[in-house]
Amino acid sequence: MIDIDKYFKPNLKQARKRTQADTEYKDFQLDERLQKFGVGKFYKIQTYGCQGNEADGETMGGILRDMGYQPTEDEAQADIILINTCAIRENAENRIWGELGRMKPLKRRNPDLLLGLCGCMAQEENVVNRVLEKYQHVDLIFGTHNIHLLPQYIETAHFNKERVIEVFSEEGNIVENLPKARQNPYKAWVNIMFGCDEFCTYCIVPYTRGKERSRSKEDIIEEVKELKALGYQEVTLLGQNVNAYGKDFKDQDYTFGDLLMDLDKIGIPRIRFTTSHPHDLDDKTIEAFRSCPSVMPHLHLPVQSGSNAVLKKMNRHYTRELYVDVIRKLREAKPDIALTTDIIVAFPTETEADFQMTLDLVKEIDFEGAYTFIFSKRAGTPAYSFEDNIPESEKKERLKRLIKLVNDGYLRASQKYMNQVVEVLVEGVSKQDERTLAGYSEHNKLVNFKGDKSLIGKIVKVKITQPRTWFLIGEACE
Ligand code: 5AD
Ligand code: SF4
Repeated sequence: MIDIDKYFKPNLKQARKRTQADTEYKDFQLDERLQKFGVGKFYKIQTYGCQGNEADGETMGGILRDMGYQPTEDEAQADIILINTCAIRENAENRIWGELGRMKPLKRRNPDLLLGLCGCMAQEENVVNRVLEKYQHVDLIFGTHNIHLLPQYIETAHFNKERVIEVFSEEGNIVENLPKARQNPYKAWVNIMFGCDEFCTYCIVPYTRGKERSRSKEDIIEEVKELKALGYQEVTLLGQNVNAYGKDFKDQDYTFGDLLMDLDKIGIPRIRFTTSHPHDLDDKTIEAFRSCPSVMPHLHLPVQSGSNAVLKKMNRHYTRELYVDVIRKLREAKPDIALTTDIIVAFPTETEADFQMTLDLVKEIDFEGAYTFIFSKRAGTPAYSFEDNIPESEKKERLKRLIKLVNDGYLRASQKYMNQVVEVLVEGVSKQDERTLAGYSEHNKLVNFKGDKSLIGKIVKVKITQPRTWFLIGEACE
């Protein structure tokens, strides 16, 4: 019998706590003795889930690169494999369990391989216990608050030949100066805040990512200036609730809208951000859409449901009417703004009438796209114990009806761009055809057009000639 209580394991109850404690800002520094540790060795990072996780994956890659490791896609070549997980829904977790099982033989073939589990799932008690009991081949578990300690964990696991498990359930600090192995040479993620204090009743994120805490504006501005100097064309500002940026500053009145306006002055061509919460989206942010040329005309604003009764049970802090009003103000400020959203169907107690209100709202707002999900129970959240009274078949039926409506919206939105000239940041060649270039428009529409590979990395004017549901086809204007 292994003693699973000897490790530093997560605790969801602890993770729920929010105190008045000040955020601690620290600087990452790689110990000199570990700077050559990975020379001649290879790493593979497998990231699942949101952009926040992708950004974390780039940080882990940066740390490993600074230790001397090189990236590889080949599992057989890898000396360390990190699985950077997502806990948002049960099916996201099931994929990871499958992956962990599949990787067992790799460890048999190469006993020196270090296999690590990190990301949001690592913050969950039941996950860590299950790994300890059933997945002996996992060497390393660390959480979202202690990525900066990765070098020490690797060293300990390597020399002591012992499992390393350390997951902090603290509210969360901020570590600056972290290296990054960015995956895209034209578009970069920039974290501006971490954590979430909204506590929507279905959501595990406030437990896995800690309290809302903002990076200093100076550090963010510096990072964006550096990215511009390196030739990046686009930054996406990241946070679980970006609109709460700055609300934790005790010594200054500086919020998300102020940040957008300051970043706009830097002159990087494109600024995007995600994710926004309707209840925190203020007039200054709306003003930034109107007055800042680099703020792109697309907003992803999760609504979750069109029924006030369901929104209340979700603890969303807004009504359908407030949401509609925010959209009205946004469209007044930026008439062509593209709007996308997230919707959960079959939340416990959702009636057919509630669901109908969601369908009506989708029609009323006329979204250009939406991510749609069936409610998934997450252990540790309040909604876990809400009575789930909707039959499986009904859940699937509602999702199907919603997707049909959402897809009609995608096509209608695409058709709006017919004969229009859009600007495309060219990212590469199309998956289907080597001679076709692909990139995203200001409104975040995927655009394909014929052109020379030398245009990759540039912003090109394209006239749309064939709008399709999921992408637009066009012709270069210059
Ligand atoms: N079940 C289903 N969907 C969820 N989301 C978050 N938590 C859950 C859950 N427990 C969805 C929300 C959120 C998006 C990132 O994932 O719509 O906006
Ligand atoms: Fe989860 Fe709600 Fe926070 Fe989004 S705003 S991360 S859905 S708790």
